[in-house]
Amino acid sequence: MKNKKYFETNLKRWNELVDINLESEWYDFKGFLEGKESLLPIEIKELGDVNGKSLLHLQCHFGMDTLSWARKGAKVTGVDFSDKAIELAKQLSKELNIPAKFIQSNVYDKPNILKEKFDIVFTSYGVLCWLPDLVKWADVINYYLKPGGTFYIIEGHPFGSLIDEKFRKGFQVGYDYFTEGKPTQWDEDGTYGDPNAKLKHITNYQWDHTMSDIINALLSVNLEIEFFHEFPFTFHNLHPDLKRRDDGYWEFQNLEFSVPMMFSIKAQKKL
Ligand SMILES: C[S@@+](CC[C@H](N)C(=O)[O-])C[C@H]1O[C@@H](n2cnc3c(N)ncnc32)[C@H](O)[C@@H]1O
Repeated sequence: MKNKKYFETNLKRWNELVDINLESEWYDFKGFLEGKESLLPIEIKELGDVNGKSLLHLQCHFGMDTLSWARKGAKVTGVDFSDKAIELAKQLSKELNIPAKFIQSNVYDKPNILKEKFDIVFTSYGVLCWLPDLVKWADVINYYLKPGGTFYIIEGHPFGSLIDEKFRKGFQVGYDYFTEGKPTQWDEDGTYGDPNAKLKHITNYQWDHTMSDIINALLSVNLEIEFFHEFPFTFHNLHPDLKRRDDGYWEFQNLEFSVPMMFSIKAQKKL
């Protein structure tokens, strides 16, 4: 497989991140155990009522958001390639007595192991940069949706990936927008959960996608886009000048101009 080396390297890092994220303030796992909502206000409002619907969560990490949809009445299945994350998600489902199915698989391998069709395919916050081929990803979404079913994504805006995180008091462009499918190698400690974490597996490979790549991938399969929204705030601390708001989103302080930092797309599979 073409990207095997990249996936293997990323998987080692993601397995290591599970315990770190579990302990982090960002995930507020203790709050979740006490019944606190892990989903953020926009996806709750934009995806709408999930009660009684079957929902497939792609790249579900250790399943907090998947289980939160289940708390709202959805019949949930979560998929992630991290065996550690899936093991923890299964354990949580059992301990909290929230019915859920969790499957360890690379997003691209799924059609071989899961044949069911879903009312909703959901994915969120930090997923696309791990995927080299968005047309293939859109194919997977299309495969799993029932006709008339809904796809929803909320994700960091590609504009945010241009921002040089070392530049203080505002921002300057530090990275290419057009990367032509080439992965970038990052060697970095820390995570969005805990920026100070020291890691054994610092190397990871990420793919930057343009906004048109994302939209065109979804249009290349049998999906009809209902809306595309952009937001001037985001879901994590990607720049030191961002501050977390009470509703969980991160916003630039005292920035002279507003810039797109996050987007959402809702689409339906054509009948
Ligand atoms: C930033 S996390 C998603 C976070 C999630 N929205 C949450 O709130 O917990 C990205 C997830 O993608 C998973 N992942 C990365 N590459 C993958 C791939 N090729 N197939 C399946 N899962 C993958 C990682 O294991 C990780 O759990």
